[in-house]
Amino acid sequence: MSRKWDRFASRGDPTPLWVADMDFSAPRAVVDAVTAIARAGHYGYADPDDAVTEAATARFRERHGVADANANALRWLPGLNPGLNHAVRAARRARGGRAVVTAVCTPIYPPFLHASRNDESARVEVALRRAIEDGRARYSIDWEALETALAREDVGLLLWCNPHNPVGRVWTRDEMVRVARLCVKHDVVLCSDEVWRELILDEKATPFCGAGSILDEVDGLRERLIIMTSPSKTYNVAGCDVAMAYIADKALRLHFARAGSDKAEITPFGYAATLAAYTDPSCEEWRQRLLTYLRANRDHIDAALSDDANARELMTWTVPDASYLMWLNCEKLVDRVERSPFEHFIEHGVALSDGAPFSAPLSARINFATRRDILDQGLDSIVTALERA
Ligand SMILES: Cc1ncc(COP(=O)(O)O)c(C=O)c1O
Repeated sequence: MSRKWDRFASRGDPTPLWVADMDFSAPRAVVDAVTAIARAGHYGYADPDDAVTEAATARFRERHGVADANANALRWLPGLNPGLNHAVRAARRARGGRAVVTAVCTPIYPPFLHASRNDESARVEVALRRAIEDGRARYSIDWEALETALAREDVGLLLWCNPHNPVGRVWTRDEMVRVARLCVKHDVVLCSDEVWRELILDEKATPFCGAGSILDEVDGLRERLIIMTSPSKTYNVAGCDVAMAYIADKALRLHFARAGSDKAEITPFGYAATLAAYTDPSCEEWRQRLLTYLRANRDHIDAALSDDANARELMTWTVPDASYLMWLNCEKLVDRVERSPFEHFIEHGVALSDGAPFSAPLSARINFATRRDILDQGLDSIVTALERA
């Protein structure tokens, strides 16, 4: 039943370094909380109680920078992906039912692209800029292209990812203020997916600026902002199907709620996992240990690729500020092997995420949230695949 381990098993059991979950079990306190629900045997409809409501509200206040976060602005979701779809429909409703064009910065986590498609509305893709130094790539915003996109009369929504999947950037305060001001100037709803926020690998070096923390600085943002997060990435509970949106503006919140009124129920497991993850002190200790492990894995891959002449010649890679995802640009590899990086790597024993669904067919993504020996197996396959190119 593991998507990551089973999906490609029939292709020679490649080392699975793809879909974004971790090979680590959730913190003990989360396992205990979910187990207690399972044991109780009542799997009927669940409502969030005061404790989990306060825990989620406090998270928006303390980790996402919404100084005046209050429970009325919360909306529970069975995942962020439904929320992305609701945001598209909410933006349409906010414009009196007229279809809106959705702007996204690519490459991007595929459901950002699917959300407009699902609504049968259009999207505009703004390519991020890539700067390269010694094989390492760092992405930034193409301001001119972004403003051109947002200035279009039919663009009504920017689906924003901070930290960004797949390029791993934590956007700076200056960047966030500029993005928010552009949204206000052109009357665009800003939907900020902040699910990777608690996996910033060195927060001193790249401090987080949540969209909710600049509400006072950017007039008009409050009326246009949807923030989403979840314990799913940080605590490895994506299968518990729980996420939260925070929408300060009442009218926008109503649009979002109506647009998503067909959502699935949030299960009691989701609420229990959230409460434990957000309130049990051992979960924060677990998160700190996790960050240390992930940072070391990131640096280990960076060192291995830097030492490999073929990698330096055929690829660029990110050293992500956040997440457990490393983004490879394999243009030169594709020139040589004349097939997608995904196909080339899987043939050599490692399953990476295919770049094509991210709107980047010449790329691939490594998930390094795994045990070091498994990561090393995958790295050996990558090195061999490059050698044989
Ligand atoms: C940016 C981003 N948003 C949303 C999701 C998925 O969230 P969910 O499983 O809650 O739908 C992911 C999963 O990788 C993600 O990277």
